[in-house]
Amino acid sequence: MFLRILALAKPYRGQLVAISTLILLISAFNQVEPQITKRITDLVISGGLKPQLHTVYILLAILLGVKFLLTIFNRLSLYLANLFSEKFKAYLRQMGFENLLSLSIEYFDKQVSGKLMSQLDRGVDRITSIINNSGMVFFPSLLTAIISIVIVMRVSPMLGIAAVASFIPYSLVNYWRFRKNEYLEKSEYELIDNQYGHFWETISAIQLIKSFISEQFEFRRLKQFDHKIYSLRREMERNTNIAVIGDLFNEFWGWGMYVYIIWIAFTGSITIGTMILLIQYLQMIRQPLWYLVWVFWEAKRAQIGSKEFLQILEEKPTVHDVVKPAEPEQIKGRITFEKVFFTYDSGAKVFDNLSFSIKPGTSLAVVGPSGAGKSTLASLILRFYDPQKGRIMVDGIDIRNLSQRRLRKEIGFVMQDSFLFADTVEENLRYGKADASLKEMEQACRIANAHDFIIKLKQGYKTVIGERGVLLSGGQKQRLSLARTILKNPPVIILDEATSSLDSHSELSIQQALEHFLKGRTSLVIAHRLSTVQHADYIIVIKDRKILEQGTHLELLAAKGLYASLFKIQAGDIDKLKEWDLVG
Ligand SMILES: Nc1ncnc2c1ncn2[C@@H]1O[C@H](COP(=O)(O)OP(=O)(O)O)[C@@H](O)[C@H]1O
Ligand SMILES: [Mg+2]
Repeated sequence: MFLRILALAKPYRGQLVAISTLILLISAFNQVEPQITKRITDLVISGGLKPQLHTVYILLAILLGVKFLLTIFNRLSLYLANLFSEKFKAYLRQMGFENLLSLSIEYFDKQVSGKLMSQLDRGVDRITSIINNSGMVFFPSLLTAIISIVIVMRVSPMLGIAAVASFIPYSLVNYWRFRKNEYLEKSEYELIDNQYGHFWETISAIQLIKSFISEQFEFRRLKQFDHKIYSLRREMERNTNIAVIGDLFNEFWGWGMYVYIIWIAFTGSITIGTMILLIQYLQMIRQPLWYLVWVFWEAKRAQIGSKEFLQILEEKPTVHDVVKPAEPEQIKGRITFEKVFFTYDSGAKVFDNLSFSIKPGTSLAVVGPSGAGKSTLASLILRFYDPQKGRIMVDGIDIRNLSQRRLRKEIGFVMQDSFLFADTVEENLRYGKADASLKEMEQACRIANAHDFIIKLKQGYKTVIGERGVLLSGGQKQRLSLARTILKNPPVIILDEATSSLDSHSELSIQQALEHFLKGRTSLVIAHRLSTVQHADYIIVIKDRKILEQGTHLELLAAKGLYASLFKIQAGDIDKLKEWDLVG
């Protein structure tokens, strides 16, 4: 697992090596000062400055040069490391985002958006931090520790061994702490993700929260998360308190070695200069060893914290393109369902042996009770999901043999819940056609009956419409989504209750404009209001996983089945509808 994290940094190997080399140079230069101090001390003590003045000058000049280089190198290494860190973060974020975008709808059905964002964010953060720490701390510390140990060993092997040995109990105690805290850390991350997910949901459902006056309740829930996170932190800190035994031991041991060094200086087995050197080196051994333990814990945290991120990177789409997709020149739009069986991953069985077809250039209306599978029908044509059995064909080509890109390019889909972005009207329309001119946009909006309300907005087509288009009414959103699809100008159109938020009057006027637009295209129109479907060339009624009735409007009325009764109920005042020329 840790190797996988390191492998992510592969493209940045060169930069990491450069940074590590600089840091190594810095630790090498750091060795100079204690050596010079030792030499000068010994010179001073060994009888007068005068005869040695020349050497002292050189040593002091070297020290000055080293200090100069150290400052430059320090800054340079930080400069490179900070820039690397930003670049690497962006790289990870893009990699995660790219893979997420490639995943199939089925994956997103199971995710909580806020949680996903939190996992993505933390993963990027932790991985960057450990890669940085490896370059900036781990390898240099390791090397500094080794150099220092070798130098101390050469003067006094016993001291060298003692210095290293002092870290055995320290490491053991800390290992115990890691094991204890590992689980707590995991729980903490889980809590944070859930809190994020919850926070996100609350904000996006703010109207609901307010209408149910549940602000207090939501706030309490948020507080509960924080309380739990705090408890976990406290437990971790307490474990760390216990681990201070390791630090104490370390300090005492260090003190013991300090005493020993002074003692052997007194007895004359080492010079005063060597004594100072040893004291400084003891410090230089201890610090990197301390860092090593710290980095170990950071690596562990990176591992725990980036688990979900790595999972996101590994996730594969469930809907695949074939290796060599068919590339028909033109799509006419014959759509055929052939013995289609479909069950959602959750177990909801939607279609049982469903067969029907839409002739190119004609319209098919789909009617049925809520939950019958009308929207699922649209999802299957768009290949958001693949049926378990049977096949769906466009112009006689199994849609699994087309690339998803191509298939979706040929289909205009107006969703039940129109989704708009927090941007201008213009930018939202551009999702339909990236390089659309203002004229084209206006034309599309006229067909969708949206132009009139758009020009009445404060800044017309340049008005920002808020997140998900909150600044628009339901009907306005639907008309804008419709215009967006009209702008895309595809040969196949799917309207999933696309005009359901409109009042009957505006629906009617759009219907007339749409009729013209839909001419020559294949369309699948899903609608609740039967008044909108009666002009379709063919109508199917689905219920209980299959087609219950099918035929033209008049045929279905004559059949006196579900459609006929629904129509009667919905038509209500037949005479009034006749006035509107709604009943055939
Ligand atoms: N993403 C999904 N995951 C699991 N089950 C789903 C999903 N979407 C819809 N369903 C289920 O499939 C059935 C058909 O839903 P849907 O096609 O949305 O119905 P309709 O559009 O006709 O109202 C319902 O029982 C619904 O609960
Ligand atoms: Mg639906």
